[in-house]
Amino acid sequence: MKKMLELISEEMKNAFEAAGYDRELGKVTVSNRPDLCEYQCNGAMAGAKQYKKAPIMIANDVAAKLGDSKVFSKVEAVAPGFLNLILEPEFVGSYVKEMKDSSKFGLEETDKPLEFVIDYGGPNVAKPLHVGHLRSAIIGESIKRIVKFMGHHIIGDIHLGDWGQPMGLIMNELKIRKPELVYFDESYTGEYPTEPPFTISELEEIYPFASKRSKEDAEYKENAMACTYKLQSGVRGYRALWNHIIAVSVTDLKKNYEKLHVDFDLWNGESTVHDLIPGMVDYMKKEGYAYVSDGALVVDVKEETDTKEVPPCMILKSDGASLYNTTDLATIMMRMEQNHPDELIYLTDKRQELYFEQVFRCARKTKLVKPETKLVHIGFGTMNGKDGKPFKTREGGVMRLENLIQEINDEMFRKITENREVEESEARKTAEIVALSALKYGDLSNQASKDYIFDIDRFTSFEGDTGPYILYTIVRIKSILAKYRENGGNTDTAVLQTPSSESEKELMMQLATFNASMETAYEELAPHKICAYIYDLANAFNHFYHETKILTEEDEIKKAGWIALLVLTRDVLETCIDLLGFEAPERM
Ligand code: ARG
Repeated sequence: MKKMLELISEEMKNAFEAAGYDRELGKVTVSNRPDLCEYQCNGAMAGAKQYKKAPIMIANDVAAKLGDSKVFSKVEAVAPGFLNLILEPEFVGSYVKEMKDSSKFGLEETDKPLEFVIDYGGPNVAKPLHVGHLRSAIIGESIKRIVKFMGHHIIGDIHLGDWGQPMGLIMNELKIRKPELVYFDESYTGEYPTEPPFTISELEEIYPFASKRSKEDAEYKENAMACTYKLQSGVRGYRALWNHIIAVSVTDLKKNYEKLHVDFDLWNGESTVHDLIPGMVDYMKKEGYAYVSDGALVVDVKEETDTKEVPPCMILKSDGASLYNTTDLATIMMRMEQNHPDELIYLTDKRQELYFEQVFRCARKTKLVKPETKLVHIGFGTMNGKDGKPFKTREGGVMRLENLIQEINDEMFRKITENREVEESEARKTAEIVALSALKYGDLSNQASKDYIFDIDRFTSFEGDTGPYILYTIVRIKSILAKYRENGGNTDTAVLQTPSSESEKELMMQLATFNASMETAYEELAPHKICAYIYDLANAFNHFYHETKILTEEDEIKKAGWIALLVLTRDVLETCIDLLGFEAPERM
């Protein structure tokens, strides 16, 4: 379906042409003076020079051609030459009616579906998920859903941190604590136990302990590095032990991501590409891209136009060990072979911006990707506490994601049960659903690259630009629809009518920008555009609701028209929150 703004501009362009002017002058925009008009066209101002005429004269000529327009109910030429526009209610009504009857509410899916791979989440095995990984998961999941909604094909990969130094640290510490474990007996040739020799809590305690100690104790660190080396070079016992670490961690991660409604197609990790590295390194050497500098193997990635220093991309350390970027490059190679993506999207903290710049340049230079392959890094800002510093627990430690979610759930439960009798288990369930909206909307409503303040009071509020406000609006609509049905009405067959009030027309105009808003959200990979759209939509609905006595209306056709409008508003809102990665309860 054409966008409403296109139809409006089309009408205006025809009028410019009919009045003898260049039709391209007829571009219409949303009014920046909503008190005066709904849309405006500044084409007469732009054309003044070309036609050597006062803009107001051009505007008058154009307005005269729009006297019996079916699109505009009012076209006003005002000094010095603006065209102020009001839409014909019938035009708005029929647009929204068509939208309601179209698939995806009039959004045109792409006719050239592309292949995408999105790399998000990126947790590190054996380390508890913390709030830093929260943003990657929340934003990535939403972008994945938006891309899919546009009709493209997208694969989400978690890209676990499962292969580097932390693995050696854990194994080394285990070796000290439980030297008798069969995994460390290198002469052992039998089968290894299927039960892991630790629990997830033990693992999560071991890593920070070992990490701290390695910073204070050089010998300890060296032993840990030796363990990493043994793992990476394939020593049987170390591989078997590592498999347990992965299995225990992944089970725990899955549980957590499920709570967040985040779902990955692939659970690959840095380790997945381990065996591809030697081939890739040989290729880079053979083609002359990589050379040895200070013992390390590097690829130059600086460019003449650089204004800042972009250091070479290190492929192998002087001891032959691979690095974080080695695995990223090999992963690009693998993805190109397996998924043939047109575009690769990465979600991390913006502190990795330069890192990805290096990796992308290196991938291009070494022709791991095609010249037309798009490589996109979306670097997000930090989630801060009220003190403006990175979010911490009350004790000052790194907040575990689980605890953060629990905190929000409890606060939501408190709000839901405040001054009200609600059955406990139902209230708990509702609180969980609403809390997720608070958390996700609180994050997604900000432009990703910006830092934001995690403010539990604000995020969980039922008023203002929040997830709970959006859900509350949806629930309000659902309850009106339920009452209509209880009184014998049929919400499925209700037919939209021409808007009969200002607030009804405004609600329809807001609905009508759905397709344009979704397209922008996709083009800019920007979930916050969807938040902005539904916040305006929820406001427009609530304004309409307060001005209109829907269920007591005596004119049944009019009433059914409003019901149809409510159905559409609910469906659009629910589609949008699904793209953001959360859902609405039936009641709250
Ligand atoms: N595990 C990494 C970290 O915690 C994030 C991984 C991001 N993805 C990637 N392909 N490098 O910083």
